[in-house]
Amino acid sequence: MYLQTSRLVLRNFTDADLDVFWTYRNDPEVAKYQGWEFPYPRERAVDFVSSMRERVAPKQGGWIQFAVALKDTDELIGDLGCYVKKEDVRQAVIGFTIASKYRRKGYAAEIIPCLLEYLFEDMDMHRVTADCDADNIASYRALEKVGFRREAHYVESFFFKGAYASEYYYGMLRREWREKYRRR
Ligand SMILES: CC(C)(COP(=O)(O)OP(=O)(O)OC[C@H]1O[C@@H](n2cnc3c(N)ncnc32)[C@H](O)[C@@H]1OP(=O)(O)O)[C@@H](O)C(=O)NCCC(=O)NCCS
Repeated sequence: MYLQTSRLVLRNFTDADLDVFWTYRNDPEVAKYQGWEFPYPRERAVDFVSSMRERVAPKQGGWIQFAVALKDTDELIGDLGCYVKKEDVRQAVIGFTIASKYRRKGYAAEIIPCLLEYLFEDMDMHRVTADCDADNIASYRALEKVGFRREAHYVESFFFKGAYASEYYYGMLRREWREKYRRR
């Protein structure tokens, strides 16, 4: 995997990403709406990076995470993941993280379309979805910015970190992607 935008690259993880990855996974602001163990143990980060380093393409029924790095320095600033549904190889779910110090610079909105292009145009996806906590404004604003449609609002549907949380579900079809980004 090596895709680029004007400021960023989407690539496979390397061992050099380990410390930065482990650090932002341990940032309470980054972890607030995420399901990983917190504090996030270093051994988990080591396992994660080594498993993702070798994984070159999405596999049906499994997640793959790609590193998001600054184009100029190759410094890791976050990650984007996708899951190809077990029951339908043409449907995927995405997730994303940008480290706190790089937020609100338009990086999520710049790199998510890169993953969408890969999923719709190279992987022939019919539909891509994403979900987030209804309080996670940054997440749903980023999804809406890149063209996702809100499809559902589940109220107190998810027991998360000691309380019931509400969730928004978003979707995008390939024809919607092509219409928005004018691709054929
Ligand atoms: C969600 C996340 C990836 C957004 O990354 P980002 O690079 O800061 O997002 P962008 O700068 O591209 O912003 C995209 C849009 O969201 C808006 N936005 C981003 N953060 C926001 C915030 N905290 N409050 C309100 N709007 C916000 C931006 O203003 C922009 O919309 P606009 O251009 O129409 O104004 C980042 O906040 C993050 O990693 N959060 C923690 C991990 C997480 O919760 N991931 C999602 C799990 S479902």
